[in-house]
Amino acid sequence: MLEGKTVVLGVSGGIAAYKAPEIVRALRREGARVRVVLTRAAREFVTPLALQTVSGEPVATDLFDLTQESEIGHIDLADTADVVLIAPATANAIAKAAVGMADDLLTTVLLATRAPVVVAPAMNVHMYENALVRENLARLVKHGWTVVEPDEGALACGYEGPGRLPDADVLVEAVGSAVAPDDLEGEAVLVTAGPTRESLDPVRFLSNRSSGKMGFAVARAAARRGARVVLVAGPCGLPDPRGIETVRVETAEEMAVAVRRRSRSATVVVAAAAVADYRPAKRETQKSAKKKGAMRLALEPTPDVVASAVVRKPGRLVVGFAAETTDVEERAKAKLERKALDLIVANDVSAEGAGFDVDTNVVTLVSRAGSEALPLLSKDRVADAILDRIAALRVRPSKKRVARTKKRRAR
Ligand code: CTP
Repeated sequence: MLEGKTVVLGVSGGIAAYKAPEIVRALRREGARVRVVLTRAAREFVTPLALQTVSGEPVATDLFDLTQESEIGHIDLADTADVVLIAPATANAIAKAAVGMADDLLTTVLLATRAPVVVAPAMNVHMYENALVRENLARLVKHGWTVVEPDEGALACGYEGPGRLPDADVLVEAVGSAVAPDDLEGEAVLVTAGPTRESLDPVRFLSNRSSGKMGFAVARAAARRGARVVLVAGPCGLPDPRGIETVRVETAEEMAVAVRRRSRSATVVVAAAAVADYRPAKRETQKSAKKKGAMRLALEPTPDVVASAVVRKPGRLVVGFAAETTDVEERAKAKLERKALDLIVANDVSAEGAGFDVDTNVVTLVSRAGSEALPLLSKDRVADAILDRIAALRVRPSKKRVARTKKRRAR
């Protein structure tokens, strides 16, 4: 997500500063180069040595240190940043940033940089709810900064409420959004994800091995790229992604109902769910007891969600997945036609590094224009590759541009 990007991480002096090394590691896991700026107060909670060790870069602490200034340089920090993340951001750091003060290295970098800035406030709940802090944050938002709302819970000061620094992966996601292209702005993307579960009785069900990871990755990537996203998810262990409207369903029937309703306003539908094709013809209300001998189960077909619940309309792009184990491309092409899709993401779920419950995938993008085989990639990168295709298919010349071209031709 952050391959080739430089993140300047500003750490200010709250108790949550002790989490800074974990944030650095999470950013580096996504491929970022991380340059850390520590305020004087932050050094009371976390040492430059710890951050230098995890970031693999010298840590900047002092604006007036001649050695640091010649070797690291506040303008160099500001210029090389693709994005600045302040985590944790104390009430004091927020206040100084909101009035444009530049009395230490971090605030100076903030004024000098042209990169987007993401702020993650963390403090006592009463401080966070103080009208002055709210006003300062609103001012930062007005100037285009992104504020990652703190989590609610038990705070270090003994109070309960909003004020906890969110987990590192939430901060990484916000940084990813700040550097991602906005090429899906204005799009309403509906994603289905995960398996469905078809009950036999109150304790047993039929389901499949889908983890939901691929669909969740598509939903998160679309949101990062500016789309409004609705995620319809079958039962899987993944938490609701922040900022994405997530509708939880259990059965294929419930998924079809949710998708029929939500797809009306969608411009793009990505069906990544592994929907059960059959369900028990009869659902017992009591737990069925074991009987002697073999057992026969009568099954009936479930609705095909992408084929029947998504109404086709001009301009609406419908993308499906095809999980296969043989003749992958051929079968995918047949599904593309049978389900009236614009694009199908075919994968051989038996291939190494592909399929269920792993973080990678090997897919071929199949459309009527041809096929493109992608190498083994993380599911996040596969998601971006799918969205690149979608963005390219969605690019329509604006009416103004068409009119201008016509005028030029007429001349
Ligand atoms: N799909 C769906 N509803 C179903 C079955 C599948 O919406 N009841 C969607 C999947 O989300 C996927 C595409 O259809 O986008 C293809 O799913 P897949 O399981 O590969 O195909 P099936 O239709 O089940 O065909 P087969 O079992 O023959 O492979």
